[in-house]
Amino acid sequence: MSSWLINGGNRLNGTVHIHGAKNSALPILAATLLVPDYCEIDNCPALSDVDAAMDILRHLGCRVGRKEHTVSVDATVLSGADIPDTLMREMRSSIVFLGAMVARLGEAELSFPGGCELGPRPIDLHLSALRRMGLQIKEEGGRLRCRVERQMTGCPISLAFPSVGATENIILAAVTAKGTTTIFNAAKEPEIQDLCRFLNACGARIAGAGESTVVIEGVKQLTGCRHTVIPDRIETVTYAAAAAITGGSLLLKNIQVEPLQACVPILEEMGCQTTAWKKEWLVTAPPRLRRVRSVRTLPFPGFPTDAQALIMATACVAKGTSVFIETIFESRYKHVGELMRMGANIKAEGRVAVVEGVPQLSGAPVECTDLRGGAALVLAALAAQGTTEISQLQHIERGYEAFAEELQQVGADIKTVAR
Ligand code: UD1
Repeated sequence: MSSWLINGGNRLNGTVHIHGAKNSALPILAATLLVPDYCEIDNCPALSDVDAAMDILRHLGCRVGRKEHTVSVDATVLSGADIPDTLMREMRSSIVFLGAMVARLGEAELSFPGGCELGPRPIDLHLSALRRMGLQIKEEGGRLRCRVERQMTGCPISLAFPSVGATENIILAAVTAKGTTTIFNAAKEPEIQDLCRFLNACGARIAGAGESTVVIEGVKQLTGCRHTVIPDRIETVTYAAAAAITGGSLLLKNIQVEPLQACVPILEEMGCQTTAWKKEWLVTAPPRLRRVRSVRTLPFPGFPTDAQALIMATACVAKGTSVFIETIFESRYKHVGELMRMGANIKAEGRVAVVEGVPQLSGAPVECTDLRGGAALVLAALAAQGTTEISQLQHIERGYEAFAEELQQVGADIKTVAR
């Protein structure tokens, strides 16, 4: 187990190239199961979650390879219909394999994802939608045993909440189902649009991706294609926040501007100057950040819950009081206690957190509690006086490729130590 020693206080300056989106790559890799052919996925980030998805595909009989950022999957012949508990536990979002497995194989056995670091993560919306499409599901001893009599059947499905994972699972189950599936109140995240672009390139007939009503006409068979994953909008916001908190200036390359629309005004309210071109974003911070009045997390196109901890870290050193309201997950303030160890002044109760900015944070030993909470600690450490030791880095490795190296090359003082 290693940890990072970060000496804070360096202004970050330079250019960072943004990697492909984790949350796009994962459902797209699950979708390759639907294609009895060869697919190539470019701009696929090298992350432990992506490795876990590749391991699941291998376990199911696919031939999977990686050459730099291109992952190839040959799912012509499959040999299994179960995901062992160890693989399910490696990545909670592996539930997104369910829709693809039952569509391709007619059956699936996997573990219930259970609780995770963001609190309970129910899958009731996934299961009730798949049941409506004809799936029989038995829940026994923490395992889900699923079987479809003949073929998944399309139908209208209204989601009580626009769940990203449930929308993806329904789309995956519907693409080769009999008839038409219409999803009402579907999630509109850019990663869902990317998944649908991949599937349509393979011959699927999906209309309305990115809108709240998605219509999927089942097709008989899909054929392989080559697809490029969209840039990671949360990684983009992370580096923007790193520029902001260190009073620096970063040019972020290979980005998409459109999905950042809810984040740009927040950074600007805090006093950052931002200039966007088609695929680049320059973020320049003022000497001292100002508070942001309120940050309310919402489904896309609202402010992303995955960026809440990142902006909270920057608010810790801003002048004035910032208020955060987390509406998506029940328990997404685990980073608060760790930020307070570094001198942050935060009061969190239920879904609300009030941050009173302090002039300076100070280095302390802290532990990553989850992926984005861990990245928030790195941001705080970059601005803190003295040395911060950050442990439990496996959380960060789930979602940031070469994070320490990228930060070092724009001026951060980070050392990796073995513990
Ligand atoms: C995805 C993202 C995650 C992001 C989240 C919200 C991936 C791999 N992960 O997670 O990074 O933070 O979207 O943007 O893409 N819910 C239910 N029942 C269900 C499903 C969800 O109650 O059946 C609830 C969840 O507990 C949560 C909320 O709905 O409170 C949002 O969950 P969802 O949109 O499904 O998030 P994920 O797909 O798990």
